[in-house]
Amino acid sequence: MTRIILVSGKGGVGKTTLAAATALEIAKSGRKTLILSFDLAHSLRDSFGLGGFVELAPEEDAHALTPFLDIKELDVSKEIEKEWGPVYGHLAKLMSRGGLDSALSQELAMLPGMEDISALLALHKYVRLGRYETVVLDCPPTASTLRFIGMASGMKWYVDNRLKRERALAQVLRPLARMIDRDSFHLPGDDFFATFAEIVQSLTALEERLQDPDVTSLRLVCNPERIVMRETQRAFMYFSMYGVAVDQVVINRVFVDDEPYFRAHAQNQQDLIASVSASFEGVPCVQVPFLEGEVVGLAALEQFAAAVYGGQDPAAVLHRRTPVTYTVEGEEFVMTMSLPFAEREQLDVSRQGEDLLIRVGTFKRRVTLPSAFATFAENVASLEDGVLRVRFCTPASSREEAVADG
Ligand SMILES: Nc1ncnc2c1ncn2[C@@H]1O[C@H](COP(=O)(O)OP(=O)(O)O)[C@@H](O)[C@H]1O
Ligand SMILES: [Mg+2]
Repeated sequence: MTRIILVSGKGGVGKTTLAAATALEIAKSGRKTLILSFDLAHSLRDSFGLGGFVELAPEEDAHALTPFLDIKELDVSKEIEKEWGPVYGHLAKLMSRGGLDSALSQELAMLPGMEDISALLALHKYVRLGRYETVVLDCPPTASTLRFIGMASGMKWYVDNRLKRERALAQVLRPLARMIDRDSFHLPGDDFFATFAEIVQSLTALEERLQDPDVTSLRLVCNPERIVMRETQRAFMYFSMYGVAVDQVVINRVFVDDEPYFRAHAQNQQDLIASVSASFEGVPCVQVPFLEGEVVGLAALEQFAAAVYGGQDPAAVLHRRTPVTYTVEGEEFVMTMSLPFAEREQLDVSRQGEDLLIRVGTFKRRVTLPSAFATFAENVASLEDGVLRVRFCTPASSREEAVADG
């Protein structure tokens, strides 16, 4: 199965550099590798030192950089046309019938989340192709990465619960219908729904891969600055929440200079790193020095890879960690989720039928429970030492506990 390595972090910290160095190093050992960029601010070409414009082969084909390394910078708007044709076409048609000019109707026909989902679908396509042993993904900055990872499960819920019901569909389309001529209004054709169904199927399959720690590893890049490291801690928690395993934290651009001027600064960085890295639950934190000049071109990337991986195989799972587990304890079922930096006040766990809705601050994840869990009427949540435990039990046993507690 194709291995997926995601590289994410705050803007400008060195994501593209790490992704490029990782892919290059893997390909060097003769394994067919694709490096795919989702970041709108594409800079893969710059990183590889490819001057000028490099013609990408059309359609599915990525540009071959070396015999074992392909590079692809995703044009999201093209992907949208390809994957969402019927949906997009239908909405645009409805609006232009209402008298909007066609450029504007195309703009308005964009559904929220379409871009994220299209990017995910492209990833799924390359993973399923079977052409690559490894796909390395240069992700957009953390918040966008989290949004598109969360989208995989959100979309499934949306289609299952909303779109398939006629009433809900009418709700979505009624305002449009009113805007347009009521009499000439038509419901979307079969291809509209087929497109949604296909998209959900792909997203579900991809989500399974993204949540399998043997298939997908996420590498978080940061710089030794207080705010950046805080944000990285939070990102670490949110990725755990979505069930994506982080197997390495790369602290990039660390000062090692012995000049007196830099010495105090370098020491401050080390103090900060020491205080923060203990909190990544045993995930290895590797430091990469501030290199001279920009890290551009194959030789510089190889040097960067050596600093990150030493002799390790960059395609290996560098740390084993399962953010979400399901176990049976006596007569209860228990789900645990690692939420290392969560505070009780930001956490909210609620049940909606067969789903468990977990909110931490502004992020939420909907977990569809295994069917054995879903039959239990009650769930009791607790947060301790950075681990959320949700016990699924019968109403009687949760009452007993409440009495015992009181
Ligand atoms: N360890 C390093 N030392 C010096 N320059 C670096 C280092 N890591 C990255 N850079 C440079 O920093 C800039 C930003 O890196 P990049 O990987 O493009 O960040 P991101 O993709 O996170 O926005 C690039 O010019 C890159 O060459
Ligand atoms: Mg980048």
